[in-house]
Amino acid sequence: MKPTLGVCYYPEHWPEDMWAEDAKRMVATGLTWVRIGEFAWSRLEAKEGVFTWQWLDKAVEILGNAGLKVIMGTPSATPPRWVVDKYPDMLSVDIEGKTRKFGSRRHYCFSHLGFRAEAARMAAAMAKRYGNNPAIHAWQIDNEYGCHDTTLSYSKSALNGFRNWLAQKYQSPSALNHAWGNIFWSMEYDDFDQIELPNLTVTEANPSHWLDYRRFMSDQVVAFNKAQVQAMRPYAAQPFIHNYMGRITDFDHFTVGNDLEIASWDSYPMGFLEHVLSEETEEWKAHFSNQGDPDFQAFHHDLYRAVGHGRWWVMEQQPGPVNWAPYNPIPLDGMIKLWTMEAIAHGAEVVSYFRWRQAPFAQEQMHAGLLRPDSANAQGQIEALAVADELASLGDIEHEDSDVAIIFDYESQWAWEIQPQGQGFDYFRLVFEQYRALRHLGLNVDILPATANDFGARKLVLIPGLMAWNDNLRHAVDHFDGLVITGPRTGLKTKNMQIPPTLGPDFASTTISRVASLRPNVTIPLANGGNIIKWQEILEPNSSIIETTTDNIPVLVADGKRHYLSSWLDQEGYKRIFSDLCDQQKIETMDMPEGVRQRAIKGKKLIINYNPHDSELNGVSISAAGYLWQEVRCRN
Ligand code: GAL
Repeated sequence: MKPTLGVCYYPEHWPEDMWAEDAKRMVATGLTWVRIGEFAWSRLEAKEGVFTWQWLDKAVEILGNAGLKVIMGTPSATPPRWVVDKYPDMLSVDIEGKTRKFGSRRHYCFSHLGFRAEAARMAAAMAKRYGNNPAIHAWQIDNEYGCHDTTLSYSKSALNGFRNWLAQKYQSPSALNHAWGNIFWSMEYDDFDQIELPNLTVTEANPSHWLDYRRFMSDQVVAFNKAQVQAMRPYAAQPFIHNYMGRITDFDHFTVGNDLEIASWDSYPMGFLEHVLSEETEEWKAHFSNQGDPDFQAFHHDLYRAVGHGRWWVMEQQPGPVNWAPYNPIPLDGMIKLWTMEAIAHGAEVVSYFRWRQAPFAQEQMHAGLLRPDSANAQGQIEALAVADELASLGDIEHEDSDVAIIFDYESQWAWEIQPQGQGFDYFRLVFEQYRALRHLGLNVDILPATANDFGARKLVLIPGLMAWNDNLRHAVDHFDGLVITGPRTGLKTKNMQIPPTLGPDFASTTISRVASLRPNVTIPLANGGNIIKWQEILEPNSSIIETTTDNIPVLVADGKRHYLSSWLDQEGYKRIFSDLCDQQKIETMDMPEGVRQRAIKGKKLIINYNPHDSELNGVSISAAGYLWQEVRCRN
């Protein structure tokens, strides 16, 4: 596969006489793709049924004639004012019961059936207009589902939808009462219409009630996406894509991805470090403030490769300072190239920069583009030009399955958000920290969904924090010759969010008798180095004890190749244990210097330096914010 580059463009933001020059310059930069249209509804249909396609026809023609491949976005993330006037109750409602207003974007509630149909109608109109246009090579459906906290809504339409969803799932109120355990606190229902959304209760609502609500809302995102896809398919044969985000876990991306050909995501490494990596220390953030976290992008590249069944892109790549994080410094020179190359080494088919020219007006006027508002080259453009040059001589990129995989499961995120049992317990973070330790050991890692029923030829699979087992995953584990590490907190609930009769984890011949969450300043040392942090389980094992605390409390137990890890460990603990188990599986590891990471593809590997200073790996020096490709005979 030969990776290519692209850019996000808003012809409606610029006078028509600039378009041809812009297109020419994009091509001269070495860009192949241009994404347009995703916020342009008010210019395409200013009044219901009154379409003004001509300007977009012209833009597509100019971009296509210049030789660019157009990705056309459906504009449902920005319903114009008349749509809201038509459906005043389509606005989403927050957890406090406050209605969110028109005046920015993503103001719709996923469960509003009127708006869902309206969005599908508009998507179909676009597909009819452009489905046969040779310049259109892909479609983006909506824009960043869940951005600005918009998956969950507590509206009237959500309430009606939830009641129907529950009635279908449980068939009778008594079945629901049993599944939720509503005898507790006299919460029993005798009609589905008595059931409310789980917000605004006096104290916490039943966790089973919450979990079903979270499943329902995730299903609404799936249905909303599917409605557009189904409306467009008859008219458009191009691949359909959505642009997902970093650490957005409110809906099941794997299920949405099943209706699309390609997954993509929007990668803003420095914004993420400041905005979403809240657990990192100030010292860590200061060190990486102009580069981003060295594992966060990689994690999402690997996650979305799985969501896209192997086909994935970066739809929006940070091109310079953003406007939306608490602090918005300038990337170190070289980082835009590094981020691009890193994505490519993880298998991205396309990396597309956001955006072509910085807008001098409205909400994102402080957000960089490849060009400055006066059209001069910004640093982003300088680096995009350099990447395009390098790609021309890089040759084919061929991704191969990794020896090591880790399971990521959205439902487990919801379960442990609902019932963290300790402030520090966050599922994403648990998985991410295990992933970070594996990367620190120089490993390639694949991410798999919890519905995987086959681990292929892999040698080591990690299943941390899985709320409940399912038949597929059981099958995969049962038929796997390699080594499995589950835990902590794996298999400790039933699907209904209750404690299983066996107490869990139903794995590695051990039972969990007690659990404890730890204060941030409490650590429990392991006998051989490293510490327990945040979460500890007390095991009753009938299996071999591999690791203990200094007080001889079992931490890692094994029944053959099936391991259970009872606790959340610090990086030192994870790295030591994972590297021992990799040795057993003949997976080669190394101790990468902090901030230096590597990723192998067929025949070569990319070594990257996220540090603001030069670093060294095996005697080879890599400059600050720099990278190099090395030939390899075999992976890892
Ligand atoms: C993304 C979004 C873009 C733009 C960008 C700014 O989340 O998809 O439309 O807002 O952020 O960084």
